[in-house]
Amino acid sequence: MSFSGKVVLVTGASSGIGREVAQDFAKHGAILAITGRDKDELNATELKCRNNCAADVLQILADFTNQQEVENLVDKIVEKYKRLDILINNAGAYKLGSLQTSPIEDFDMLFTVNVKSLFVLTQKAMPHLVASKGNIVNVSSIAGLQAFEGVLLYSMTKAAVDQFTKCVARECAPKGVRVNSVNPAFVKTNITRSAGLAGDELDAFYERKTRAHPIGRLGTTKEISRAILFLASDDSAWTTGNTFLIDGGRSLTLS
Ligand SMILES: NC(=O)c1ccc[n+]([C@@H]2O[C@H](COP(=O)([O-])OP(=O)(O)OC[C@H]3O[C@@H](n4cnc5c(N)ncnc54)[C@H](OP(=O)(O)O)[C@@H]3O)[C@@H](O)[C@H]2O)c1
Repeated sequence: MSFSGKVVLVTGASSGIGREVAQDFAKHGAILAITGRDKDELNATELKCRNNCAADVLQILADFTNQQEVENLVDKIVEKYKRLDILINNAGAYKLGSLQTSPIEDFDMLFTVNVKSLFVLTQKAMPHLVASKGNIVNVSSIAGLQAFEGVLLYSMTKAAVDQFTKCVARECAPKGVRVNSVNPAFVKTNITRSAGLAGDELDAFYERKTRAHPIGRLGTTKEISRAILFLASDDSAWTTGNTFLIDGGRSLTLS
């Protein structure tokens, strides 16, 4: 697998899955554009990418609740590198809540970050991906495909991401652009803390999640990253519109 000379945009690269993916593309010689809101954490990702042989790294601070900042991303990358080959739509926010307990502010924030930004960014990126015969991997979730209790709005956003993946894959296949998603079950990252869980409550949450996966453990960022690199590579040249479950068997317990 080689991404030598390829320009790869990884959103949400300041943490978790996005950081791992950026590092793995770096190992395969890619030029990386990485986004996040936390400057220190983005610096840490840049350093890891450079230590792992990235051809170059462009850091862009962007808050995905601000549409202008999302729109500017692709221009900044193309201004510097004159091309874009791969878009990894990974940035995402998470909130717990049911129909009765979810505030409308969570609806607006989750749909803006997880769906609208992804749409805007993909729209801006597509002409460049058509030119490079590139591809997209969206980071969705098992929650886009299955119904879980108490995570209503997040699941709705990921279902939208999955349908977006399929529709855009169909629209853009004749133009030579592939679009796939990965749909992980539970992976230990900062996302649960950002949802407000901490201390004993967080430990109990992880314990429940671990037991829920037949393989008997949570997934790792490396396992998700490997699947993303496979889908972004020529090894999957005949795969598009796929929603790829990586779930430790979790979906088997739900059917
Ligand atoms: N962890 C899991 O169990 C799991 C399972 C299925 C799917 N996923 C998906 O995987 C993706 C990555 O999540 P993760 O688990 O790696 O979580 P994470 O460690 O919390 O990383 C989330 C990333 O998204 C960025 N982000 C969040 N809100 C943003 C905003 N308003 N504007 C710009 N960037 C924003 C964060 O940037 P800053 O920190 O710099 O703000 C961070 O880089 C998400 O799409 C998530 O839904 C995760």
